[in-house]
Amino acid sequence: MQNVFILMTHRCQRSCGYCFEAQLGVRKAGVELPAARLAELAVHLVSPGRSSVIISGGEPLLRPDCEALIAALSRDGIPALLISNGDALSEERSRSLAAAGLMALTLSAADFVQVKDAAAAAAAVNRLVQLLEGARAAGIPGLSVIYLISSTSFQHLPSLVQRIEPLGVSVLPQPLCGSSAAPLTGALSPRALPRDTWREIWSMCGISSRSMYTAFVDGLYGGLPTKPAWCGMGGTAAVLEPDGEVFACFHRRDLQCGNLHSGNPAAVRQRLKLAAMETATAACFGEHCVSLFSGR
Ligand SMILES: C[S@@+](CC[C@H](N)C(=O)[O-])C[C@H]1O[C@@H](n2cnc3c(N)ncnc32)[C@H](O)[C@@H]1O
Ligand code: SF4
Repeated sequence: MQNVFILMTHRCQRSCGYCFEAQLGVRKAGVELPAARLAELAVHLVSPGRSSVIISGGEPLLRPDCEALIAALSRDGIPALLISNGDALSEERSRSLAAAGLMALTLSAADFVQVKDAAAAAAAVNRLVQLLEGARAAGIPGLSVIYLISSTSFQHLPSLVQRIEPLGVSVLPQPLCGSSAAPLTGALSPRALPRDTWREIWSMCGISSRSMYTAFVDGLYGGLPTKPAWCGMGGTAAVLEPDGEVFACFHRRDLQCGNLHSGNPAAVRQRLKLAAMETATAACFGEHCVSLFSGR
């Protein structure tokens, strides 16, 4: 598979009400296999030379053996990217992640989703800049920020872009997704933002207005047909859970492919292949399940 997500834990020190994990009801403590075992299992899912592993969660930095997973993957020639909220990212932690061979770190700019005033937004910018500078000084090669676009957070995007552009850090604008019927995700959804605002967002983040990603978001909120194949989950992904369970998509808990730790890896791979065919054309595709890794 092209994108192999390893969720090291479902635990998290935050409780963002809009979180995918909360919406799916999967955010809980449970069996967490050691890093060395997760790395062994991931080898069954990657396509040599073509795959990236994305380490996420829950909050992956809550696992003290996150570095051991990255080191084991890089010994096998598999590049690892880490997505984190940054709360446990000290300068020392950045150095140990770099030493383990982390290729890229993506920090989530979650604090902007519900900031109340300009002072809180400025504090959120300063925090991210400090974390990114620490990661850069530690030698982590690729740095980026996922900026959640909500009904209000887009207003603070310019102040963040202005500060981190000189650091060479890219910003990935991610529409906040969730059911429109749920009070929180309904109110936070950016679905009502005018097209001009989206155009400003793309241009600020250096994304071409003719890219697949912009067409995809236009389609999503403009009622145009969107394509499952444009979703990073659509037929090209595998999700490895902390206990060894495998899914074809974060959001399709019905597409469970079995447990790689306790089951037969060949059977799990076969079920994943069938499930991937389903996600490639799934009718489930839509605002509630838009993937972070949609093509740009
Ligand atoms: C589930 S989190 C796990 C990693 C880590 N705890 C973090 O927040 O970066 C992975 C990414 O999903 C994003 N995310 C969570 N809920 C979302 C939602 N409802 N819509 C869009 N993105 C969401 C987060 O902002 C984060 O960038
Ligand atoms: S920090 Fe990440 S995993 Fe934790 S609640 Fe927020 S979005 Fe979810």
